[in-house]
Amino acid sequence: MPLRLTGPDPRYQSSYLAALRELAGEGNGHYLELVIPAEPGFPGVDYSLSRLADPGVFEEFCAYTRALDDPATPKPSSWVTGTYLWMVDETDTVVGRISLRHELTPWLEEVGGHIGYAVRPSARRQGYGTVALGLMCTVAAERGIDPALVTCDEDNVASRKVIESNGGVLEDVRNGKLRFWVPTERPTA
Ligand SMILES: CC(C)(COP(=O)(O)OP(=O)(O)OC[C@H]1O[C@@H](n2cnc3c(N)ncnc32)[C@H](O)[C@@H]1OP(=O)(O)O)[C@@H](O)C(=O)NCCC(=O)NCCS
Repeated sequence: MPLRLTGPDPRYQSSYLAALRELAGEGNGHYLELVIPAEPGFPGVDYSLSRLADPGVFEEFCAYTRALDDPATPKPSSWVTGTYLWMVDETDTVVGRISLRHELTPWLEEVGGHIGYAVRPSARRQGYGTVALGLMCTVAAERGIDPALVTCDEDNVASRKVIESNGGVLEDVRNGKLRFWVPTERPTA
């Protein structure tokens, strides 16, 4: 089950949109859409499902999402710099996405954590979530983040298993969120 993480790339438009439709179907479209309202100093972005179907908009979306890795890129005041990567399987199909926040705000410390992820429903229970978190831990370690905070809802059995399989150590539960610290430096084989 080889899986790799890749930066947003227009060549994945078709499978990205298919993944987005699947996630939207269960109410989780926000993992793959990017809709942020305007605020003073930031013009806002609307990369919703209907707009992303346009190849030009999709290309712009990929460029913007890649650029969020750069602190100079305009973003809402509450956002920190982050790395947004897509999970791609051995058939070159997008099966999910995973993001790494480079630092913690009080809200991220409490609720959101460093790393967030989603796997499209049709690709679940094949180990992709677990492998993707491990791969993102390497990215986090390269940025000096160790351990990484990863949270999930108390009743999210799958996400809890993903975190625990990656060595997550439960610190506490805050407002229904389990807060785990995941070591990102892995022993080399
Ligand atoms: C959480 C999520 C990313 C897991 O992705 P996945 O690719 O299915 O995860 P894996 O295949 O690596 O499965 C991890 C473990 O969870 C188990 N699992 C997966 N889905 C499950 C489910 N619905 N119920 C119970 N266990 C489940 C798997 O069997 C596996 O168990 P194991 O480690 O004992 O073998 C995916 O369910 C998802 O995208 N959910 C919606 C978004 C979300 O909740 N994101 C996380 C927010 S914190």
